[in-house]
Amino acid sequence: MRSLEDVVRKNWSAAVLAGALAVGALAGCGGDGDGGGGGDDKLTMGFSQVGAESGWRTANTKSIQESAAAAGIELKFSDAQGKQENQIKAIRSFIAQRVDVIAFSPVVESGWDPVLKEAKDANIPVILTDRSVDSADTTLYKTFIGSDFVLEGKKAGEWLVKEYEGKSETVNIVELQGTPGAAPANDRKAGFADVIKADPKFKTVASQTGQFTRTDGKEVMEAFLKTYPDIDVLYAHNDDMGLGAIEAIEAAGKKPGTDIKIITVDAVKDGMTALSQGKINFIVECSPLLGPQLMDLAKKVNAGEQVEARVLTEETTFNQEQATAALPDRKY
Ligand code: AHR
Repeated sequence: MRSLEDVVRKNWSAAVLAGALAVGALAGCGGDGDGGGGGDDKLTMGFSQVGAESGWRTANTKSIQESAAAAGIELKFSDAQGKQENQIKAIRSFIAQRVDVIAFSPVVESGWDPVLKEAKDANIPVILTDRSVDSADTTLYKTFIGSDFVLEGKKAGEWLVKEYEGKSETVNIVELQGTPGAAPANDRKAGFADVIKADPKFKTVASQTGQFTRTDGKEVMEAFLKTYPDIDVLYAHNDDMGLGAIEAIEAAGKKPGTDIKIITVDAVKDGMTALSQGKINFIVECSPLLGPQLMDLAKKVNAGEQVEARVLTEETTFNQEQATAALPDRKY
């Protein structure tokens, strides 16, 4: 049973259909539906994805697309190619198309208030997935589903503290950060720093962005290796940057996992393979499989049901033995 508000929204959608289609094309929206909230009762979700920067992101996109199909939700998918301005355009297009729900994974944390306000004024509920925004007004979105990135950083730091327990020599750490301004980059850095600061032997000698990509991870690690000959540990904010860095370490004649210990975040198949081969020492899991819960939340929000303001993803950590055991069943 659809609410009166929905009916009004649907009728209005017919009136703006032509304009909406034009804006949709501009924002590069996918989907082959009716171009609006629909002429049927199928729930329509506009989803703006960050891009395709990592194995994690590819798995996340697949999870969202497959779950939407399984839940009978019409998905209008838009790839922002790592640019906030593309996400803002896509969200405006979704508003113009009168979708039922907007979901997005924000490239960066700041700068969302105006467009979120537009969605709220249009009475279209917004769900944040994977990454959050720093808006003080939390009524601009209904819920946020995703990981606790600070906790992920802390888990990485805790492993390091344990690994060097009882040792007093300085531990030189280099850090490959994610995209500047992105919640996982900010929070993974903060969580890690918070744990290791208790012991002055841990020294972060360099910390730079590798943009969450393999290519940049490799390039930045090459530069680190030239500048700092005594690196003991690499902390990479995701597997892809860690995998790129492994190539740089091997090219420099060093043994990843032995000469330089490596901690990463995500636990995608390629990362888990490197961990099981001893090239990575520890991975903190960040699950990309947010699709089923997102679709469930979208249905509830659309039906006007109350949902939790924060839905946390369940995650674990892996050492070499655990990665080897988990690999045969790893789906992504
Ligand atoms: O927001 C999640 C992060 O984004 C993943 O850890 C990283 O691989 C991706 O690019």
